[in-house]
Amino acid sequence: MKFFIDTANVDEIRRANAMGVISGVTTNPSLIAKEGRDYAQTLKEIAGIVDGPISGEVKPTTEKAEDMIVEGRAIYALDPKHMVVKIPMTEEGLKAICVLSSEGIPTNCTLIFTAGQALLAARAGAAYVSPFVGRLDDISEDGLELVTMIVDIFSQYPDIQTEIIVASVRSPKHIVEAAMTGADIATVPYQVIEKMVHHPLTDAGIEKFKKDYQKVFGR
Ligand code: E4P
Repeated sequence: MKFFIDTANVDEIRRANAMGVISGVTTNPSLIAKEGRDYAQTLKEIAGIVDGPISGEVKPTTEKAEDMIVEGRAIYALDPKHMVVKIPMTEEGLKAICVLSSEGIPTNCTLIFTAGQALLAARAGAAYVSPFVGRLDDISEDGLELVTMIVDIFSQYPDIQTEIIVASVRSPKHIVEAAMTGADIATVPYQVIEKMVHHPLTDAGIEKFKKDYQKVFGR
């Protein structure tokens, strides 16, 4: 399973990229709004940092397929080597995914909460589907069970090339469980990557090696 980072904060993206662990970036309108910067400029800057797929979402005020298509083309044009157009799961969204993918523009169908939605998005031509595990867990449903179902379904139809991005990840446990399902990618907030790095025994071990070494060798 690959890691994408789920943020529009360029400092976090640079730090995660320097660790060599991320293969792409996902953003959404809430994440970009949080940074308080120009929408397109932020996406363009991110695409200049990470050499991988960068998901930029059509604005949530864009509801008609024809408008999503125009906006999707503009997002893609920001950096055609990296940009992926993120489109919400609606009837209009599926129409836009169908047209953009026929033009060779990769799309990421977002806000997936059922296996049926994932299958529809795949058939419309989405390069990626993003099931939101955390938001399902928040309402006492099982987000990872949904991912398992999508992985199972897609694996039974080899003509489906759509990759599964496990989204709305809240904890290191989510990530390990996502990897066990065979999902292609997990998109992870920087804080969760940081949590994954640490273990109390790792940190204590580093301290002990340091003390033992310094007792004999000094600095
Ligand atoms: C990524 O594609 C999603 O937009 C993101 O993971 C949603 O996460 P949230 O549920 O924590 O807002």
